[in-house]
Amino acid sequence: MTMKILSCLTVLLAAMPLAAQPTTLRQAAAPQGIPIGAAASADEYGPPDLLLNTSYANLLSSQYSMLEPGNAMKWDVTQPTQTTYNFGPGDELVAFAQANQMRVRGHNLCWYTQFPSWLQPYAETATPAQMATLLQNHITTEVTHFAGQVFAWDVVNEAFDDSSAAALRDSIWYNQPGIGQTGTGYIAQAFKWAHAADPSALLFYNDYNIEEPGPKFDAVLSMVQDFVNNGVPINGVGFEMHVLNAYYPSATQLAQNMQALAALGLQVHITEMDVRLPVDASGNASAADLQTQAQIYQTIMTVCLQQPNYTAFQVWGVSYNDSWIPSVFPGYGAALPFDFNYKPTPAFTALMTAMQTTTTPPSLKVSNVVNAASYQGGPVAPGEIVTVYNSTYGPATLVLGQPDATGKFPTNVGGVQVLFDGVPAPLLYASANSGVGAIVPFEVAGKQQTVVEYQYNPASGAAVSNTATLPVAAAAPAIFALNESGSGPGAILNLDYTVNSASNPVSAGGYIQVFGTGGGAIVGGATDGAPASGAANLATQPVTATIGGVAAKVVYAGTAPGLVNGAMQVDLQIPAGLTPGPQPVVITVGTAVSQSGITVAVQ
Ligand code: XIL
Repeated sequence: MTMKILSCLTVLLAAMPLAAQPTTLRQAAAPQGIPIGAAASADEYGPPDLLLNTSYANLLSSQYSMLEPGNAMKWDVTQPTQTTYNFGPGDELVAFAQANQMRVRGHNLCWYTQFPSWLQPYAETATPAQMATLLQNHITTEVTHFAGQVFAWDVVNEAFDDSSAAALRDSIWYNQPGIGQTGTGYIAQAFKWAHAADPSALLFYNDYNIEEPGPKFDAVLSMVQDFVNNGVPINGVGFEMHVLNAYYPSATQLAQNMQALAALGLQVHITEMDVRLPVDASGNASAADLQTQAQIYQTIMTVCLQQPNYTAFQVWGVSYNDSWIPSVFPGYGAALPFDFNYKPTPAFTALMTAMQTTTTPPSLKVSNVVNAASYQGGPVAPGEIVTVYNSTYGPATLVLGQPDATGKFPTNVGGVQVLFDGVPAPLLYASANSGVGAIVPFEVAGKQQTVVEYQYNPASGAAVSNTATLPVAAAAPAIFALNESGSGPGAILNLDYTVNSASNPVSAGGYIQVFGTGGGAIVGGATDGAPASGAANLATQPVTATIGGVAAKVVYAGTAPGLVNGAMQVDLQIPAGLTPGPQPVVITVGTAVSQSGITVAVQ
């Protein structure tokens, strides 16, 4: 009986389309691979706490897959006195986001305004060195506090003015008194501090009136070009997109600016979109204006979706009730896709239409799949442990794959599945931020290429799926680094099973076990996702190795007993005559060579 129900269910499920027609912004955005967000508030300036308003909270969580604190992560809230921090409202917003599978954008770490009352007077007598310490401590404390919770930060906000010279604005961080850096040096420094505090967060420069060509965009472009050239850790630029019916970028202008940033390898987030309209005494706009506004929302969303470096969209507020426009631009309002009654406006329909009708290139790219030990792309090998980055789909917080009673890893983790020619890969973990750890099924052996399909079917929202075709190789070896960075001291044990290190080196003639992945097929075969039950050799031969450039004797190359199939163990004997210290280890399987930069400590 049970069997019968089960098989009926299977047939039914197979016949069902992947997702029903989307009815919310977040459902429509999911297959496009972008988070869609809104600026949100808790009680950062006192009661009432907006998150306790169920109309507000329900709209936010049902329509949006991301939120950004409109104020709760700014200086005036987070550092009320020089020696105290207040992350309560930010934490509350983060908790709300996590409870609703939403991502969090952080805003902002360094701005010229919205300071706590003690800061401006302090700056008037402080030295640049004191200002540098202050800013460094603030950035480090805040980014560390939210590490792993905030996926992207607006590190520096609105640093350029609106003059035709697009000069750097006066600011306590720049010239009043500044942190002791010239030009955009203070901005670069802020990015470096933020990166040091959370290396996995995406870092953005955010500004307005840079959505179209002009002196301000030119100034930003030359700054970020300089940052990219000089290794300043920056991932993208935020276009605020506070526009009006009478003033907004054309499709061509917006595309041009996005492409100029794409050429530098930078992403673009639309961070604060609203389209303000003239309103009557009760805050309502004319029907005609609402139609024009809808068209602007639709155009902006469509243009963005066509640009591969467009990775997030956000509006500045949840509904007319909490929009900043009426208080800052008297006579204007009605700027968002939801009105005073939390009901959709024509702008909502326009955004839905744009997301449902714009076809975009598949968001899974060949370059999204890298070897988990080296982080290098290229062909995949049977059993290779890979990291699949598909940053916009996946659980907001990391979910670990739980092996079953036999030690076998699951193929669905947190709603994510990765298939190779339809065969589900065992998954070690899944996270939108850190990617997905997948083991290439051994079934790809002997093929020229494999179609990788990334599926995400979250508990809430629509399912998504996209594919990329990757070449297959017999082997694609790489060695794990001890600190998981892809280079430096390798994941290597000495003969007594202690970790090899500078203080625990190995002598000439001694033996080491080197751990990696990408060794390819196993003699006798191997079960996907199961632990290796014993030692079995790599099928692809020969296996050779060098240490310090000198050939090392390969004693064993194959499975790593006890570890999952796909992990590779290579036992080597240390050649004589090496200089004591870290020596590079390179393993070749067939014709494929492991990454450079992995070392073993030799004495
Ligand atoms: C605004 C908030 O929405 C207001 O509540 C606050 O009083 C002032 O700041 N550009 C930005 C945002 O980067 O931080 C601003 O937010 C709007 C303009």
